[in-house]
Amino acid sequence: FVVKTCSIETTLFSVKYVYSVVFENLLDRDTFSKSDPICVLYVQGVGNKEWREFGRTEVIDNTLNPDFVRKFILDYFFEERENLRFDLYDVDSKSPNLSKHDFLGQVFCTLGEIVGSQGSRLEKPIVGIPGKKCGTIILTAEELNCCRDAVLMQFCANKLDKKDFFGKSDPFLVFYRSNEDGSFTICHKTEVVKNTLNPVWQAFKISVRALCNGDYDRTIKVEVYDWDRDGSHDFIGEFTTSYRELSRGQSQFNVYEVVNPKKKGKKKKYSNSGTVVSLLMILVYFYFRTQINFTVAIDFTASNGNPAQPTSLHYMNPYQLNAYGMALKAVGEIVQDYDSDKMFPALGFGAKLPPDGRISHEFALNGNPQNPYCDGIEGVMEAYYRSLKSVQLYGPTNFAPVINHVARYASSVKDGSQYFVLLIVTDGVISDMAQTKESIVNASKLPMSIIIVGVGPAEFDAMVELDGDDVRVSSRGKYAERDIVQFVPFRDYIDRSGNHVLSMARLAKDVLAEIPEQFLSYMRARGIKPSPAPPPYTPPTHLLQTQI
Ligand SMILES: *[C@@H]1O[C@H](CO)[C@@H](O)[C@H](O)[C@H]1NC(C)=O
Ligand SMILES: *[C@@H]1O[C@H](CO)[C@@H](O)[C@H](O)[C@H]1NC(C)=O
Repeated sequence: FVVKTCSIETTLFSVKYVYSVVFENLLDRDTFSKSDPICVLYVQGVGNKEWREFGRTEVIDNTLNPDFVRKFILDYFFEERENLRFDLYDVDSKSPNLSKHDFLGQVFCTLGEIVGSQGSRLEKPIVGIPGKKCGTIILTAEELNCCRDAVLMQFCANKLDKKDFFGKSDPFLVFYRSNEDGSFTICHKTEVVKNTLNPVWQAFKISVRALCNGDYDRTIKVEVYDWDRDGSHDFIGEFTTSYRELSRGQSQFNVYEVVNPKKKGKKKKYSNSGTVVSLLMILVYFYFRTQINFTVAIDFTASNGNPAQPTSLHYMNPYQLNAYGMALKAVGEIVQDYDSDKMFPALGFGAKLPPDGRISHEFALNGNPQNPYCDGIEGVMEAYYRSLKSVQLYGPTNFAPVINHVARYASSVKDGSQYFVLLIVTDGVISDMAQTKESIVNASKLPMSIIIVGVGPAEFDAMVELDGDDVRVSSRGKYAERDIVQFVPFRDYIDRSGNHVLSMARLAKDVLAEIPEQFLSYMRARGIKPSPAPPPYTPPTHLLQTQI
């Protein structure tokens, strides 16, 4: 199992964030109506400390609680502390000159402050007008889900201009990506190849973000220089291209004329100062080499109904899968792709076990606690049906024991080499909510995720609460470090007869929706970084589909 992801190894591998700004309770400067606010973002230069305008939102008429549609897209460099300033104005006329409008206050913060705050959401009071309460700013950052890859590139050149009096030229290339405003930012320099007009530069790796900000059609400018010992390198010429053009590979499209505009202006017969050829352009993915351990846990409590009755979710029908069987098979087929050995430890909970009628909340489905593994999802199904025949459905419905069971294993491998996913299939009538929350809060520190699949017609309010998408799960005043639970109501994916899954693709997507981010959040929190995989590699389609 591999997860393709962004690397945060160097500042080149920045992560791009979208920032949304919302304000509450702004100052009212207009006499007869409310303010018409606009927000202007300034970014402080690293060198000169000068505030540079980065962008403006739209103007929203007549409100003190504007929620701006226009977002700011900024690169977040982990090592850098980037200062931001949000200025607010009440727009009174069409003038773009901000000093013609009423100032409503401002907020200072850093990118890190926003990204590092809980849920990447930062609330701050607006300041800047002495003696007045100016309201609150709410900033949220969202990672753009694109271009987490790097490319391996290599170039050579032919017949470059001779620049040195003694000898030929000592050429090197400088790459620039273009910015939104048309300016250029340097993003790579090659090494110098000495004394040649036909250099072959070494292959180099650069992130797609650094090269073109993830925009495949953005202009990439390349300048060719002749290196000089004293630093006064001679300009040979330049050309422009784009990621899309470069990725056409080695072909006639990937020969670029190196042009020196000055020479071109002067000499009528000038055609070029040589050519540069793209030799190589390969996408490099970054991976975590992590084994996923999937554990299945099945609800054997009496609330599911007597297995001898057709109304039971555990109905033992020789001709058809029951509700649990269907959910297990459908979801199991999805998750088993991620488990390399396809051996699943499978547990049951909430049953009375033979021979002594002891109640267990973590028994091995195959009857072998030393080796609870089942061979593939078929093996899990077999063990499930065998258990149904031998155990007595009982109660209560306790989740905490199986969560703690997996957590014990997860707590012994925290180096990122293993990640544990517990799949709980249940009718959702939980008895130990408080203990389960406690277990989830504890497990949120571990390399572990929980998928809960609810079968049957219940309301599932408790399951939705455990999912924690709206309110992070907490126990005794402590919040879960990460969101680690994903809840999926199985009935949303089956047809009216209850016998067929309507869309496996939709089910797969929803079951796995949060796992990649949960996995990454663990790796990020522990500072575990991915490493590049050697090309060529074609990512399995399911990885692409889940947008890891
Ligand atoms: C904006 O307006 C102020 C005052 O009205 C003026 O001093 C300043 O020069 C103007 N700036 C621009 C760029 O026009
Ligand atoms: C996977 O997790 C289960 C517990 O859920 C454990 O029994 C098993 O030993 C683990 N496998 C590995 C290889 O760690």
